[in-house]
Amino acid sequence: MEPVFPTETLESAIRIDSHLDGAEGRSLAEDVLDGLTRPFKELPPKHFYDARGAQLFDQICELPEYYPTRCERTILSERAKELAELTGAVELVELGSGTAAKTRVLLDALSAAGTLERYVPVDVTESMVRESAETLTAEYPGLQVHGVIGDFERHLEQVPPAIGPRIVAFLGGTIGNFPPGSRRRFLRQIAGLLGEHDHLLMGTDLVKDPRVLEAAYDDSQGVTAEFNRNVLHVLNRELGADFDPDDFEHVALFDTEHEWIEMRLRARRELSAHLSGLDLPVHFDAGEELRTEISAKFTPERLEGDLAAAGLELSRWLTDPEGLFALTLSARRPL
Ligand code: SAH
Ligand code: AVI
Repeated sequence: MEPVFPTETLESAIRIDSHLDGAEGRSLAEDVLDGLTRPFKELPPKHFYDARGAQLFDQICELPEYYPTRCERTILSERAKELAELTGAVELVELGSGTAAKTRVLLDALSAAGTLERYVPVDVTESMVRESAETLTAEYPGLQVHGVIGDFERHLEQVPPAIGPRIVAFLGGTIGNFPPGSRRRFLRQIAGLLGEHDHLLMGTDLVKDPRVLEAAYDDSQGVTAEFNRNVLHVLNRELGADFDPDDFEHVALFDTEHEWIEMRLRARRELSAHLSGLDLPVHFDAGEELRTEISAKFTPERLEGDLAAAGLELSRWLTDPEGLFALTLSARRPL
């Protein structure tokens, strides 16, 4: 039977702030003007995640080839109790929280330790923040949820002040979706959310056999291909573009020099599209590619270097039994 709580209790347990108010549309337009008019076309990955993109991402997480979600859940299940004890956290701030599926493992551990008071999900997808706030307040009686709908690259200062020792979680390997320079800048901003008793809990995918990596980003059911092409659906809807997504082939390649996966959309033929919202014509030669995502893979040295550049120090390096994925705990380096 579903647990029943008085409506007022649930409503007062939830606060949601939205910081998108039209600025997202501007950011998409700016990214398109910038990225589709370059000789090497490129768009940032955050535009994948409308409601359909978020659903496709959830399907990716269930795919046999996409090991990161499974591995990270395994690590969390085995080590969440230890993490709860080590951090004594009363709140969990989660960047790019999505459906907060794995988050429950952490919330369970903090709840069992008797410290859990508040969860702060931060995500650009409004429906995700609202739905997770509702389901989690129902699942964890007494839990406060303060949702922040926004772009974590622009709205981190909107994360409410800490109410006690906090964990800032950045799971799934999403840090790998930043190019190296902005990755370190973003880690510095995250460090700004941490006081001396707080911790960053971050998931990072590890360097491994390119065949395993490429299969994870080019699955046999074509779900990742559809996720990749979803950005064209977003451009059609939001900017009045007339792309036919089927004109583009999904490409996923491991770049051995940079040690990152690149996802691209390759034009199957020469084509022209028009983005009426920007009055912008866009031309693709046959075979021309649009880079839609990088997904960097880490070694312990790369991660420690990035953390150190952000003033952070590693305190726990946890991996799954096969060593495919790492979950790390770090804190501000003492002055
Ligand atoms: N943490 C979840 C989801 C990862 S998918 C997991 O580990 O499975 C990446 C998530 O980050 C999505 O929910 C997406 O909506 C969100 N996201 C991507 N770019 C973002 C940005 N710039 N600001 C806020 N959220 C972002
Ligand atoms: C969200 N992020 C960590 C995923 C990744 O693996 O880089 C996004 C993704 N792209 C393709 N499949 C999954």
